[in-house]
Amino acid sequence: AELEMDGHGTFMHKEMLEQPASVQRMLTGRLDPRFGTARLDGLGIDARELRMFKRVKAIGCGSAYYVGQMGAAMIEDLARIPADAEAASEFRYRNPIIEPDTLYVAVSQSGETADTLFAVREIQRKGGRVVGLVNVVGSSIARECDGGIYLHAGPEISVCSTKALTHMAVGFALLAVTLGRVRDLSHADGTRIVDALQALPGQLQQIVDAEEAIGVVAKELVDADNLFYIGRVRGFPVAREGAQKLKEISYQHAEAYQASELKHGPLALISPQMPTVAIVPDDDLTERNVGALHEIAARGGTIVAITHDTVDFGDLPVTRIDVPRSEVELDPILLTIPLQLLAYHLATALGRDIDRPRNLAKSVTVE
Ligand code: G6P
Repeated sequence: AELEMDGHGTFMHKEMLEQPASVQRMLTGRLDPRFGTARLDGLGIDARELRMFKRVKAIGCGSAYYVGQMGAAMIEDLARIPADAEAASEFRYRNPIIEPDTLYVAVSQSGETADTLFAVREIQRKGGRVVGLVNVVGSSIARECDGGIYLHAGPEISVCSTKALTHMAVGFALLAVTLGRVRDLSHADGTRIVDALQALPGQLQQIVDAEEAIGVVAKELVDADNLFYIGRVRGFPVAREGAQKLKEISYQHAEAYQASELKHGPLALISPQMPTVAIVPDDDLTERNVGALHEIAARGGTIVAITHDTVDFGDLPVTRIDVPRSEVELDPILLTIPLQLLAYHLATALGRDIDRPRNLAKSVTVE
């Protein structure tokens, strides 16, 4: 049954709706609520070694790279280790400096993406330590890494990735809390994150249950040829991934931008013909995000906000999609889900081939 659509019409739809159950399965046995941490035996790195890393670098391609950016933020937030992400396709060709006290994380659904695989080999050739965040068990990247975290998302058939990305983000949360708890993350904060992880499946269910309302919002956007997706700091990788999703399956052009950078250039493009999808979590940047939205509205731009019901937009004309709140560090995991559904419904309204978008392959194994 895993390789059938089970009445969904498309694999993408089936895979989006599987997320509450698949994340539940992924978390099984990996949380340690008593000590407020995760159990990641597959990493093959003990606590003493784990606390020696001075830096974390995620590498992956496409959406896996964007989730790497989300993950790097979680690691900086929870473990206070400098972390960043880079496209593996760039990293492997630029003679990267490989440091012995950096933990490299190769992120891949298929485990066969050539650029990511060759980046892994480049790291290892130069003596670096690389772990995998991989879905396909026994795949090349999974085998060649020094250890890792399997995503356990099950088979993903749709070219456009959904559940595997969510599992990558959850995998980073597990890694971040683990790295945090061998360093300065307190027991109380660890417990706060573990509790939030346990709540994710139920919250994912709430989001997929709101599919119909998201479909209505998608209809408002079908005539737009160009869209902005904006977010800042933790919200920016969410915007990048959302824009990517839309481009891949609807063929509408979407550009992701830091909300903070809008005023330094792209604001010139805002008009009633250029809608903006804004990522507005309830955090210390909400007021600034709402400020950017005022600039957009003043120029006639329409706004869809992916937000929380605790955020007040005052008299701003905003079409809102409310997502349940997690903890601020983990909110990006949930904020990403409506963007999958939005892209899906837009592409469906435009009559696109959802599971087989033109020019794209599920797994790019050629160089
Ligand atoms: C291809 C797919 C993307 C995917 C990327 C990385 O370009 O079309 O959707 O994000 O490869 O794939 P991976 O299997 O390494 O996660």
